[in-house]
Amino acid sequence: MKGKKILNQKILEKAKNPEITPIFHSTAYIVEDTDDYDLANKGVKYCYSRTANPNRDELSSLVSELENGENTLICSSGMAAISTTLISLLKQGDHVLFNKHIYGETIHIAQDILQNFGIESSFVDFTELEEVKMALKKNTKLLYGEIIANPLTQIIDLEKIVELAHKNNSLVVIDSTFTTPFAIKPLDYGTDIVIHSLTKFFGGHSDITGGSITANNGIINEIIPKYLLMGCCMDPNTSWLTCRSIKTMGMRMKKQFKNAEKIAKYLEKKSVVKSVYHPSLKSHPQHELGKKILNENYGSILSFRVEDDRERVNKFIRGLKRINYLGTLGGVNTSLAHPATAFRDSFSAEELSEMGLHEGLIRISVGIEDSKDLIDDLEEALKYFK
Ligand SMILES: Cc1ncc(COP(=O)(O)O)c(C=O)c1O
Repeated sequence: MKGKKILNQKILEKAKNPEITPIFHSTAYIVEDTDDYDLANKGVKYCYSRTANPNRDELSSLVSELENGENTLICSSGMAAISTTLISLLKQGDHVLFNKHIYGETIHIAQDILQNFGIESSFVDFTELEEVKMALKKNTKLLYGEIIANPLTQIIDLEKIVELAHKNNSLVVIDSTFTTPFAIKPLDYGTDIVIHSLTKFFGGHSDITGGSITANNGIINEIIPKYLLMGCCMDPNTSWLTCRSIKTMGMRMKKQFKNAEKIAKYLEKKSVVKSVYHPSLKSHPQHELGKKILNENYGSILSFRVEDDRERVNKFIRGLKRINYLGTLGGVNTSLAHPATAFRDSFSAEELSEMGLHEGLIRISVGIEDSKDLIDDLEEALKYFK
């Protein structure tokens, strides 16, 4: 073992200053003696990969920089980031106010996990500020929302939500997965915590799973002990891949946002399309708000409604040559999803209809392809609707 230790040091000395950070797969780092162990324990040196890892730290710095945040915890998935944040900051007797238009599995965290620990949740429409005001309670520890809702793209007025929350001494947690820091940096608006599913636009190539929690040092230091205990950290390889993806993220987002606008405008003109949901459209109820807070970067997710006919919808999906039906979004390749199918097990037909998740509603995550190719593909497959 002694010989191996010396060889390690020689190789690392010779390989000093690589342009790109190598992947540090090592589970543990050799400690010299008990004093050295004490230093490692204080975070001065790396010691054990679940506790700290160079690749995860590099990714953490990048996300913090993009979000104008002091510190970021990198998690094994978006769900790990959401559950870790909520479980770490909440305790029995607390109340959480959720926007009702959020990712379905986040709703399940409230109903299937928080409730078991005596944490109460309620759900209101964050675009209705009076509803938010009325739902706040003395014990509302935090408000939780997404800026652009899935799949109907409603936008919340972040400044007003933060104002209401802070007046009530409640924290604001924003899942900014759909917006990305290239459209809005929620911490600049006074949001306390910003979360991402890095699986989506940060990864951008549909080949990683990850999540992030960004906030000031005080809040992050409160979350860290539980984050470490729950062991939901991202592995070094995925951290490295995500760092690589971030290098092209600005270019990707610019193209994806613009492509989405073009496709939304094209769909709005089609007679077989009953409605199109994208904040870039003047017909969108929060178009002006989006223009202001998203700096005209309206996101790359759009939805549209055609005839509520499952058979024709299936023909349309099968008829697409470039756009795949996927259970994810945010990649460089344009993909689609069918919200009614995704939520059929969780809601009744009446509830789905009330939520606007009709059989004819299709959601598209627009990628970086040539917009003309995408429009040609849609034009060809839309022939299945009269
Ligand atoms: C807005 C949003 N938040 C969180 C998640 C969960 O992320 P992950 O699948 O990385 O756990 C998703 C997944 O689709 C999402 O769309």
